Amino acid sequence: MKPLHRVIINNDTSFNPIWIMRQAGRYLPEFRDIRKENPNFINLCLNDNLSSKITLQPLKRFNLDAAIIFSDILILPYGLGQKVEFKKNFGPKLGELNLNEILNVDEVYFVEKIHRVYKAINKVSLDPSLTNKNMIGFVGAPWTLLVYMINQQSPKKNLKENFFKDKSLINKTLLIIEKFLKIHIKNQIDNGADVIQIFDSWAGLLEEKDLRNYIYSPTLNLVNYVKSLNVPVICFPREIKNYKDFCDIVKPDAISIDYNVDPKKILKDIKIPIQGGLDPKVLLTDKETLKREASKYLDIFKDHPYIFNLGHGVLPETDPNMFDYLVKTVKSY
Ligand code: CP3
Repeated sequence: MKPLHRVIINNDTSFNPIWIMRQAGRYLPEFRDIRKENPNFINLCLNDNLSSKITLQPLKRFNLDAAIIFSDILILPYGLGQKVEFKKNFGPKLGELNLNEILNVDEVYFVEKIHRVYKAINKVSLDPSLTNKNMIGFVGAPWTLLVYMINQQSPKKNLKENFFKDKSLINKTLLIIEKFLKIHIKNQIDNGADVIQIFDSWAGLLEEKDLRNYIYSPTLNLVNYVKSLNVPVICFPREIKNYKDFCDIVKPDAISIDYNVDPKKILKDIKIPIQGGLDPKVLLTDKETLKREASKYLDIFKDHPYIFNLGHGVLPETDPNMFDYLVKTVKSY
């Protein structure tokens, strides 16, 4: 059985597999070399020769237990025909959302536009270096995608002032997102993804009263869909105020926690397998601090099914030697 499956399906506490969010990315010089030659980020994601190579870069260097496909959550709005660009030192910039246009998108158009992501997953999953390792597919959660599609850029701290004004637009868009997320998930699984992670990076922006409509209901639908395909699903509702309520209602197979979560408290609150938590900034300190902080999570979760990861993506300024030290620390624990 593959490492993440042992923890998520069998509740194995005898070891802690490790993979890291954004493990293929700018902190690696070999990624920056490819990126330099490929200024268009979406086109890079859709170049299956390069995106499969990038996906495998961290596995060549470090003893990781899983690959995560090099793509982006915003490939979904791109597949729906919305303009998506990544601007240097700014982040994603999306074109105006045109409801009539996305209402007319069919499955064939969508899959045709992004099918190279599936081709890349297929290539990676067949690579010999993935023997006994997991192949993680992923999607953005409906809420986080809605945020990007309507806000047209990262919200940082706040949404557009009139974000919720057009309820009909929001509700119709959410249904379309859900429909195509299912198609996107199914194609990733059909091509070799054996775990799905749902990233809800902006879950923390919502007030309690809005959680049901925008997070719990749509995410529960997706989680049930992934479960129906017999693949484990990990949810990462970043900075949601109440992880326990989220787990009770949405019932993912495993939960990924952000670095503001108190690991001791979550251990008491939550029964399902847990992933992540360590602040990515700890990788910018020194080896001694890194070992101490990583060991804190390993100690706290030693009798709980636990997948080692960070509480958010690895930072671009991270030294790959510190990354390596972290992997070795976890492996030799
Ligand atoms: O984890 C991995 O290694 C797999 C690849 C992956 C990327 N994005 C590649 C990427 C994954 C899983 C994502 C998810 C993603 N994308 C999220 C959810 C996780 C999170 O970070 O909260 C979000 C919100 C996005 C949207 C996005 N993509 C933003 C806000 C940015 C710009 C910020 C940044 O880090 O530059 C991206 C760009 C992006 N996606 C990069 C990578 C490697 C950097 C692109 C570059 O080289 O310029």
